[in-house]
Amino acid sequence: MSATARAKSLNPQSILARKGGVPIVCLTAYTTPIARIVDAHCDLVLVGDSVGMVLHGLPSTIGVTLEMMVLHGQAVRRGVENALLVVDMPFGSYEESPAQAFRNAARVMAETGCAAVKLEGGVSVAETIRFLVARGIPVVAHVGLTPQGVNAFGGYTVQGRGRDADRVFADARAVAAAGAFSVVLEKVPEALARAITADIAIPTIGIGASPACDGQILVVDDMLGLFTDFRPKFVRRYGELGQAAATAVAAYAEDVRQRRFPGPEHVFAEALPARPS
Ligand code: KIV
Repeated sequence: MSATARAKSLNPQSILARKGGVPIVCLTAYTTPIARIVDAHCDLVLVGDSVGMVLHGLPSTIGVTLEMMVLHGQAVRRGVENALLVVDMPFGSYEESPAQAFRNAARVMAETGCAAVKLEGGVSVAETIRFLVARGIPVVAHVGLTPQGVNAFGGYTVQGRGRDADRVFADARAVAAAGAFSVVLEKVPEALARAITADIAIPTIGIGASPACDGQILVVDDMLGLFTDFRPKFVRRYGELGQAAATAVAAYAEDVRQRRFPGPEHVFAEALPARPS
């Protein structure tokens, strides 16, 4: 599908209409230059709260603030022309009540110009999703491994194994029934992701899930090889930009030490005027 064709159709309804169709291509972005690159190829760009770990060096997404999401949302907005822009609601900004969620989601939408917000949780946030959707805020849900729950889960473990599959299934059904226009399925068994995708009426966006999902998403810095603190099994590296950057910086440092940089082409050659003696 060309960028122009995508531009005409990319809104929450058209993403919803892609259920069972051409896979929905999604990536995260946190800055304008990366947003421009991603926008040329993706249907949906997510300003994920993974920004806290990837760009700010936080140990988890728990410390990410609404202000961080707004700032990065604004930066990404400047780089996105075609894709649907979605911004994550950070931990603590929506769990208290539907009213709190609406106040903060409305701020994120007004200040970033995003088309939708994403929030984590299933049955526990279904009422909030219904409240937001009824008031004009399109929602992408996120079930399975929800990284804001890392302390409750005791780590970034696969969710929905064995009998626990019923819980993840119920979460996916609950957010679909509440009106989310798509749902991220993170780190769940492949067969479960496949079964949920076949069962619910909204598109599933997989990450560590299944090729049968209606779309796929990755953290852009993971797939580019820029974020290398850890390497989840579900990431395929499409580039080694971190290594390329380290090689470039080492070459620069050596050139400076050896006085090879700057070269004659980098300086402003001009004779000094004669000085009075
Ligand atoms: O924060 C994030 O980047 C995400 C994606 C991994 C789905 O939620």
